[in-house]
Amino acid sequence: MSVQAQNRRITVPQIKAHKGGEPVVCLTCYHAHTARLLDSHVDLMLVGDSLGMVMHGLETTLGVTLEMMITHGKAVMRGSKHALVVIDMPFGSYEESPAVAFRNAARVIQETGATAVKLEGGARMAQTIHYLTQRGIPVMGHIGLTPQAVNVTGGFRTTGRTEAEWPALEADAQAVAEAGAFAVVLEGMAEPLAARITAQIAIPTIGIGASPACDGQVLVMEDMLGLNPNPPKFVRQYAQLGPQIEAAVTAYAADVRGRRFPGAENVYSMKKAL
Ligand code: KIV
Repeated sequence: MSVQAQNRRITVPQIKAHKGGEPVVCLTCYHAHTARLLDSHVDLMLVGDSLGMVMHGLETTLGVTLEMMITHGKAVMRGSKHALVVIDMPFGSYEESPAVAFRNAARVIQETGATAVKLEGGARMAQTIHYLTQRGIPVMGHIGLTPQAVNVTGGFRTTGRTEAEWPALEADAQAVAEAGAFAVVLEGMAEPLAARITAQIAIPTIGIGASPACDGQVLVMEDMLGLNPNPPKFVRQYAQLGPQIEAAVTAYAADVRGRRFPGAENVYSMKKAL
């Protein structure tokens, strides 16, 4: 039996089978240690381009490159063996044409070993989603608030607040599903619209600041762990790691300043004792 067969990951059809059933548990993940901690508890880990802001201190996701996504994607793959790993296509790597999108997405899949990619955009990206899925690359869609369009929209605003916006967003969801995406992220979307879309389309909807009616939820892991001092309003925090890290570092700094730290001789005497 091959190593791959023993360590079988959750598959795209298994995620699709969640439609209307048990919610899909997703979190973003950007590095190997956290991937190991998350792996058996989530169905899907997203190496999101939010890593530009979270890991690299960028203002928006627009400065994220394919190389950054591949580097973090490899780390998450090394740290995990169970969850499905999806990697975001960064701004500028897929919009030009389906062929360019395929070349870059194939690189992501080949170099990281991840299963699928995610890209932003509804009806306007349907042709590309179809092109990729027909050529062996599973795609997760992403509609509603699409952070890569921040310069066009003028900010990170909730979508679908007025009913006049609904038909275009419903058409986006339908187009993404019909193009062959296996799931779609609904980000920053008014609750009744996200619930309507979830009832209308045949693939799982993964909400973030959307609706509990969605087929699953994704959060940025650092937001829910309390590492972001200004998390989005909708985020429930399950830990306060920011203050805990600060307390630990304060204690560490006091130890070092008081010369309460082991030197090489301690390691030597520990070895002798063994
Ligand atoms: O980049 C990201 O983390 C995302 C999620 C917020 C869905 O796209």
